[in-house]
Amino acid sequence: MNVGIKGFGAYAPSKVIDNAYFESFLDTSDEWISKMTGIKERRWAADDEDTSDMAYEASVKAIEDAGIQAEDIDMIMVATSTGDYPFPTVANMLQERLGTKKVATMDQLAACSGFMYAMINAKQFIQSGDYHNILVVGADKLSKITDLSDRSTAVLFGDGAGAAVIGEVSEGHGILSYELGSDGSGGKYLYQDQETHKIVMNGREVFKFAVRIMGEASTKAVEKAGLTADDIDMFVPHQANIRIMESARLRLGIPEEKMSVSVDQFGNTSAASIPLSIAQELENGKIQDGDTLVLVGFGGSLTWGAITLKWGK
Ligand code: COA
Repeated sequence: MNVGIKGFGAYAPSKVIDNAYFESFLDTSDEWISKMTGIKERRWAADDEDTSDMAYEASVKAIEDAGIQAEDIDMIMVATSTGDYPFPTVANMLQERLGTKKVATMDQLAACSGFMYAMINAKQFIQSGDYHNILVVGADKLSKITDLSDRSTAVLFGDGAGAAVIGEVSEGHGILSYELGSDGSGGKYLYQDQETHKIVMNGREVFKFAVRIMGEASTKAVEKAGLTADDIDMFVPHQANIRIMESARLRLGIPEEKMSVSVDQFGNTSAASIPLSIAQELENGKIQDGDTLVLVGFGGSLTWGAITLKWGK
């Protein structure tokens, strides 16, 4: 059975925060942020707009794009580190708000690799034959857990959501291979503090890890699919830092024009980052039916996930 993306949608909040904003209260500059991260601006959700609201907006688009109705969804999975509450889960909240049947729902926590993990989890349920249309969402409101007094993290993060309806797709489409992993020993380098509830990061250690794992995980996924770099039409890395993305691209041997870059506009939106980038490429007509994509994420805990897939249904 070919399992892939039957419908797709993404959502970014309207409030744009540029780099100059941080200059007013932090010892930083647009020049430093642009040069060291590639980020020019990011979107922050409004105070009364939470993760479930962004997830809902992206989900409505994905369901419409799939050409199905909410009642055709038979499971909901949401990858997030910033759910509105620990429970009810964001997936729970979507079940009610979308008006699906009373289907199974779950949030999944693999930080910035979350969308990769949820897609692969959904794939197993579809392949079992028990489920047919699984709504997979990556949504994060990182602005609510960002420490604005810490210049090394404050400038990096943004908010957003992306959603995909995962199900059976036709021959020549769908997920070809994947590679998932984690290394708990690195949890201390990137975590949410239990007292302040803010992100704490050792940037240098995360950088070293990310450079190694992005290249390794995507190379393994490409090899598992029996492909080479020449077969890749679009490389969509987690949008954390342009320097990390560049090193992964070079390691894979993919030309610059085949790497999706949206970090300049959105910063790091965690579980939403890969789908937001895909949405941008779709909008620009840079992803076509049958194209071979490599998606690769890494994140806190530390986790990673790479997927190769043929775009389309
Ligand atoms: N503006 C100006 N200077 C800053 C700064 C900012 N926003 N943030 C950090 N600096 C300073 C540091 O304080 C340090 O100053 P010092 O030398 O006086 O101590 C200097 O820049 C170098 O810091 P360092 O952390 O060694 O720089 P770096 O090359 O590692 O770049 C990051 C910093 C955060 C951009 C980089 O480490 C990074 O991107 N790491 C990965 C982050 C990530 O992807 N996290 C999410 C994972 S999902």
